[in-house]
Amino acid sequence: MNQDERMFSIDVQSVNLAEYSSKGIVLDIGGGGEGIIGQLLGDKVVAIDPRSDELEEAAEGPLKIVMDARELKFLNKTFDEATSFFTLMYIEKQYHQKVFEEVYRVLKDDGEFTVWDVTIPPYPGGTKDIFLVPLEIELRGKKITTTYGVLWTKSGQDMNYYIQLGERVGFEVVKKEKNKQIYCIGFKKKTNAN
Ligand SMILES: C[S@@+](CC[C@H](N)C(=O)[O-])C[C@H]1O[C@@H](n2cnc3c(N)ncnc32)[C@H](O)[C@@H]1O
Repeated sequence: MNQDERMFSIDVQSVNLAEYSSKGIVLDIGGGGEGIIGQLLGDKVVAIDPRSDELEEAAEGPLKIVMDARELKFLNKTFDEATSFFTLMYIEKQYHQKVFEEVYRVLKDDGEFTVWDVTIPPYPGGTKDIFLVPLEIELRGKKITTTYGVLWTKSGQDMNYYIQLGERVGFEVVKKEKNKQIYCIGFKKKTNAN
């Protein structure tokens, strides 16, 4: 079977990041590839990704470090903010809690973790087992068109799945936005948390 026959694509989804800004240094997990957060915020970003080729592909601006989000090599309470722009969908579900715990640990008190991701229904079976998410991303003064694709798994994922995960590790949800099949969740680390 050729690759095309395995592809299942949802409709084009729009993300508007024109209003997204940061107060301090932002840790972007999985910041390789298009490196959207790095394109938006430049040298305010520390982009980590376990794949050096993905980091090399991303635009210049951020500090790029080869690192896995499941085992961050930063001290506790280092960052003001963290982001995951369609990265969690690429990480196996069994590791999601560890990633949330690691992000929580390296955020300062009141630090925020913003997650953009997509609703993926459970894999219905059949030949189409690659789930594609075409995106039109609005940055300040620039529009990027890209497609993210992952192997479609049995369990799927949605916004509530990530909200429950975040709350389980101690985050408070401060923002929830849904637009068609994609969503943005703002998590906050409570003051005086560990
Ligand atoms: C294709 S990109 C998606 C979007 C990317 N954030 C962007 O702005 O274009 C997903 C990235 O997640 C990375 N990734 C996969 N597993 C990871 C992990 N355990 N920790 C951090 N990044 C990971 C992949 O290497 C890949 O570069």
